[in-house]
Amino acid sequence: MKIENCQAGSEAARVKDALKKIAAPLLNWYQSNARDLPWRHTRDPYRIWISEIMLQQTRVSAVLDYYRRFLEKFPDVYALAAAPEEDLLSLWQGLGYYSRARNLQRAARQIAALGAFPDNYPDLLKLPGVGDYTAAAIASAAFALPYPAIDGNALRVIARLADCHLNISAPETKKIFGAALPVNLLQSKSEIRIFNQSVMELGAVICVPNGPPHCDTCPLSAQCLARQNHTIEILPVKAAKKARRVEHHTILILSRFDPAEYQTDSPTGDPGAYRVAARKRPESGLLANLWEFPNLPGELSETEIAAQIHDWNFNILHWHQKISAKHIFTHIEWHMTGYFLTVSGPGPDSFHWLDAAKLTDYAIPSAFAKFRQIALERITEHESS
Ligand code: ADE
Repeated sequence: MKIENCQAGSEAARVKDALKKIAAPLLNWYQSNARDLPWRHTRDPYRIWISEIMLQQTRVSAVLDYYRRFLEKFPDVYALAAAPEEDLLSLWQGLGYYSRARNLQRAARQIAALGAFPDNYPDLLKLPGVGDYTAAAIASAAFALPYPAIDGNALRVIARLADCHLNISAPETKKIFGAALPVNLLQSKSEIRIFNQSVMELGAVICVPNGPPHCDTCPLSAQCLARQNHTIEILPVKAAKKARRVEHHTILILSRFDPAEYQTDSPTGDPGAYRVAARKRPESGLLANLWEFPNLPGELSETEIAAQIHDWNFNILHWHQKISAKHIFTHIEWHMTGYFLTVSGPGPDSFHWLDAAKLTDYAIPSAFAKFRQIALERITEHESS
């Protein structure tokens, strides 16, 4: 059925009708087929919250190690509230979307001040970084409250089950789908705790986002209207994505044999140690407050680069290597050209000179991963020679 032919109200009723019998087969399937994931073994709202924040825009396989390390270091909301931001960002590096980590800590401080984790949907929604999806996921899994959690997986699953051609990028569709999920028909608290998880799980492993869904093993294939109507391939309907803005940057990996008089951070360090320069990014904007290799906007010529390096009060001793890299953010693409150089001279006070351990510990975002790897290899070569 095409939306042009329907009123929004009747479409909402039709979607609801299509979902009213999904709970029993879905929950049955989930009990014996769900992946064994650590946050599914707990009712602790803190642990569930951390998992849901990490899982926003990030695959389960990428989250698992971070989740374990995070809980080792910050086992409860008080530990997180008290942590130095540098420690938190260092732990988060590689996971991306660092505002999630900052919001976690702001929320942890609010919860610590309250003295208890919010145990209801409206109060969960007040936490920084918690939207309606995350609030519903925590409310249901931790407190057995029947709120529908509508993430990208749920949107796809519902659009197909109901053969609904509404645009899933529209907030109104999210509302219609949320109202259609039969959370109020669930029979017990234990069903409420796992129902949202089971919808997500179906979307993650059966009704998958890329490639054809695995309808042969889907517990809901007999009820799926898109399967009956042969519309699976065209569902869900999404708004066309806006093209990302492309930015060019010139990245400078400046290395130096660091004589003792230049060493601000370790006056007793080895004279002549081989170090690489990093500086802190501005306090606001993309990747705020994280560390980066010095860089310049645009794709500059070697003459322009040399002029800037001299302005920073360095002499150039050697140009080693030119490296290209690309990093894709949600709305921006960085096309980077990196230059690895050896320099001498004091340079700006804002530069920190990192050895291998600091290069690993400092929160340098994954946009710079390729350059960091090269810097690490060079330092390791020097340390072992
Ligand atoms: N994606 C978002 N939340 C999830 C969860 N709790 N389990 C698996 N994947 C998820």
